[in-house]
Amino acid sequence: MPTLNSVPVRVGSRVLSTGSYRPDQIVTNDDVAGLIDSSDEWIRERSGIVERRRCAPGESVTDMAVAAGAKAIAKSGIAPELISMVLVATVTHPYQTPAAAPEVAFRLGAINAAGADLGAACAGFCYSLGLADSMIRSGAAEYVLVIGVEKFTDFVSPTDRGTAFIFGDGAGAALVGPSDHTGVGPTLWGADGEQKDLITMSQSWSEYRLEPRDEFPYVQMSGQQVFRWAVSEVPKIAMRTLEASGVTVNDLTAFIPHQANMRITDAVVRALKLPEHVVVGRDIETTGNTSAASIPLALDRLRQADQLPSGGLALLIGFGAGLVYASQVIELP
Ligand code: UT7
Repeated sequence: MPTLNSVPVRVGSRVLSTGSYRPDQIVTNDDVAGLIDSSDEWIRERSGIVERRRCAPGESVTDMAVAAGAKAIAKSGIAPELISMVLVATVTHPYQTPAAAPEVAFRLGAINAAGADLGAACAGFCYSLGLADSMIRSGAAEYVLVIGVEKFTDFVSPTDRGTAFIFGDGAGAALVGPSDHTGVGPTLWGADGEQKDLITMSQSWSEYRLEPRDEFPYVQMSGQQVFRWAVSEVPKIAMRTLEASGVTVNDLTAFIPHQANMRITDAVVRALKLPEHVVVGRDIETTGNTSAASIPLALDRLRQADQLPSGGLALLIGFGAGLVYASQVIELP
């Protein structure tokens, strides 16, 4: 029997660079409060959000992904032709087909790259990073561009009290490449489909086609139940991730969780007993919840502010609709 060629196996991968894109338009709490009988005070207190960004008319998911991806590529110094795979984590690309990634790869000059979208909601960036690491270590890819991008403006109802003030638009990217040591620790990931209805669309496309109930299908969330799940499960997942990577909270430089709610971040920081020196991602204040984009946006902002020394360790954890989660410790670029 003939034997098949195998590809070389690499020791590790690491994040080489990051990039981000925030749309120009700032939407304040007062701008959204009127339609949902809310107030700036309530939104700040219950979520930690002060403002979020919104795309200009005509600005798309792929436009934002290209803007963030271009910055990550430029900072890495890697030629776009060397990228083997572009993974776009998103749940708001408004086309059933084609996926966003092939267009994004083409517009970035990544002419030799495969491209696919990944739908794991607010865990999408960490899911994609886990896949990128596996692909690079197995030899299936050399350089992988991971992008988290969302344009919630298209899928949020401005009159839905449970979500209208939470979500925002934006994109963040990371270029991942081969390394002679482990720069992306083991990814812990999981899914609990029994809880699929906790964050879901108001109608499926097929229901909407047969009998439109809403102006357009939009995201709905059982906020309190998701909140309780996150506060109880995220610290456990984080501890298992640290254990799998062979480090403790004392070894961390940064903790960058999905930006779902400032109170969730505070509760997890307390449960993990994070030491004072650990920098915590709190980008939600000015960005809102941008689902798959929230972790790379927070990461890139802290790096731009020179708060994350290269070589330090950051614990990332994404969680959300599915319900799904994914988490890993990375070496900072
Ligand atoms: O990214 C994916 C993962 N997502 C999350 O992890 C989000 C998790 N959930 C949350 O962040 C929070 O549940 C929300 C911020 C969405 C809501 O905050 P909450 O503290 O859980 O509010 P609640 O639904 O328990 O409502 C508390 C009170 C209620 O009034 P009463 O019954 O106490 O008089 C609501 O009617 O606040 C009222 N309320 C509002 N008031 C002003 C609910 N929504 C609003 C609103 N503005 N938008």
